[in-house]
Amino acid sequence: MAARSGKVTVVGAGFYGSTTAQRLAEYDIFETVVLTDIIEGKPEGLALDLNQSRPIEGFETTVVGATTGTDGSGYEQTADSDIVVITAGLPRKPGMSRMDLIETNAKIVRQVAENVAKFSPEAVVIVVSNPLDEMTALAANATGFPKQRVIGQAGMLDTARFTHFVAETLGVPVASVRTLTLGSHGDTMVPVPSACTVDGKPLADVLDQAKIDELVDRTRNGGAEVVALLKTGSAYYAPSAAAARMAKAVAEDSGAVMPVCTWVDGEYGISGVFLGVEAEIGAGGAKLFNEPAPTETELAGLKAAAEAVRAKQADVAEL
Ligand code: APR
Repeated sequence: MAARSGKVTVVGAGFYGSTTAQRLAEYDIFETVVLTDIIEGKPEGLALDLNQSRPIEGFETTVVGATTGTDGSGYEQTADSDIVVITAGLPRKPGMSRMDLIETNAKIVRQVAENVAKFSPEAVVIVVSNPLDEMTALAANATGFPKQRVIGQAGMLDTARFTHFVAETLGVPVASVRTLTLGSHGDTMVPVPSACTVDGKPLADVLDQAKIDELVDRTRNGGAEVVALLKTGSAYYAPSAAAARMAKAVAEDSGAVMPVCTWVDGEYGISGVFLGVEAEIGAGGAKLFNEPAPTETELAGLKAAAEAVRAKQADVAEL
């Protein structure tokens, strides 16, 4: 039987949080998955339901539900988590940009982050609440944790969307496609065509530029497309898959290379900003490595993204 260890907490038991908790529990690598929410009974009910799926799905991880208060009550059940995934916050409605959520979600994420720091001072924190780059910066600030221990989930999702669109367009398995996006989770997302391949061949050899541009555009608006169809709420299957994989890489200290939102200070000639780049994910959080050189155009895009998010990240310090 596989060894199980560690405790992971998912804050926010909405669509994103509950599916993340489900994926984490089904990995069957953790001792405990804790799911919390401010809606009384919701996390407990979902935990009970998830636990009852254990004999069918065949996992032994225990799921614990805990209602929390904004005063920090209930957080004792999350104490000493190794990993905390923050999904608390409002999702978009059709027509909204992620940035429209900034004031509301900043208050929520700040309060959550302060409690996480108090109850799980050694945790690696994975932020998914939107607007992502700003909420990651805010959580790092509010926890006071070393910056590499606070990571935002965006790049995994954006690349998954891009990969799906390329695979669908070409009628090839997703496994034969590799894509990469860096920058922000939003308007300044930076596709990196030089790192995109299909069966090892450069993307530009198998798709014409107009088609690539169209797919990049669809990727950039990938979240909005889902929001417009759902009408209430935003995407959660692909997002939760991405967040859960990041948590797994931390738990297993795998050093897997993933595009994530992390503190960039010197790399790519960019300093002092949380930005989407590739990093090794392990027990200490995100570690930047000797980054591959993007092309001049890609680098210019990354620098523009850095400046765009830098301004907004300064704003959240006041929220
Ligand atoms: N502590 C814990 N949970 C909270 C708090 C808080 N302070 N404030 C709100 N929540 C909970 C809500 O009660 C709700 O159950 O967060 C949950 C959010 O769930 P959904 O509304 O279903 O939203 P979801 O789709 O899960 O998205 C969550 O992820 O992708 C982003 O933009 C999205 O910011 C949003 C977040």
